[in-house]
Amino acid sequence: MKKLLHIIATPRGEESNTLQVSRVFLEGFRAAHLDWEVEALDLSTTALPDLTAMRVDGKYVLLGGGELAGDTKTAWTEILAHIDRFLAADAYLVSTPMWNFGIPYMLKHYLDVIMQPRYLFRYTATGPEGLVTNRPMTVITSRGGSYSEGPAKAADFQEPYLRFAFGFVGIQDVTFIHAEPMAMGEELRAKALAGAKEKARAAAARR
Ligand SMILES: Cc1cc2nc3c(=O)[nH]c(=O)nc-3n(C[C@H](O)[C@H](O)[C@H](O)COP(=O)(O)O)c2cc1C
Repeated sequence: MKKLLHIIATPRGEESNTLQVSRVFLEGFRAAHLDWEVEALDLSTTALPDLTAMRVDGKYVLLGGGELAGDTKTAWTEILAHIDRFLAADAYLVSTPMWNFGIPYMLKHYLDVIMQPRYLFRYTATGPEGLVTNRPMTVITSRGGSYSEGPAKAADFQEPYLRFAFGFVGIQDVTFIHAEPMAMGEELRAKALAGAKEKARAAAARR
């Protein structure tokens, strides 16, 4: 059975603007992909492993072409479990608000855990190569302000960062849906949510 991994980076549950849009995406996705399962990974309630000196050492061992061994290997158990879970998916949905012009720390922590050489990317004679291929991703965001056009676009470190980071590991087919602005009055919020839900409904059938 194919799997969509839903990576959630907001702690706001039922109150979440982002998840309101994601729920519409998931409804459409489930209807269009009856043979797929959807697995949720809520980063706001998941205790991710800290990147201690020993765990970071493991990254350099792998970067140098070596094998994990001994205490380092043991320390990597949780990292490898997260990598396995990420790589077991056939498609991804990421639900993330903008926090301080970028991504919430829990999503950055997750990326620091899973983006490991040998597993998600490798270096070749011609440069880095992403190893996560043929897996589409949809990223649903919400923001207090608006960043999709005008001078504020330069302050969007969320979409460009995620595009580059996931692109680096091979995920090139990424669709962004932004619900914005959420904090400029109820009228604009309702209009933005309705627009984003419409895009989410359309994207769900295509993914
Ligand atoms: C810690 C924090 C930082 C935020 N930083 C920004 C920001 O830089 N720009 C912005 O437009 N909105 C910012 N917001 C507002 C959220 O992006 C907005 O309310 C979003 O809809 C929250 O999504 P959620 O309801 O799914 O958690 C921030 C909110 C929080 C809690």
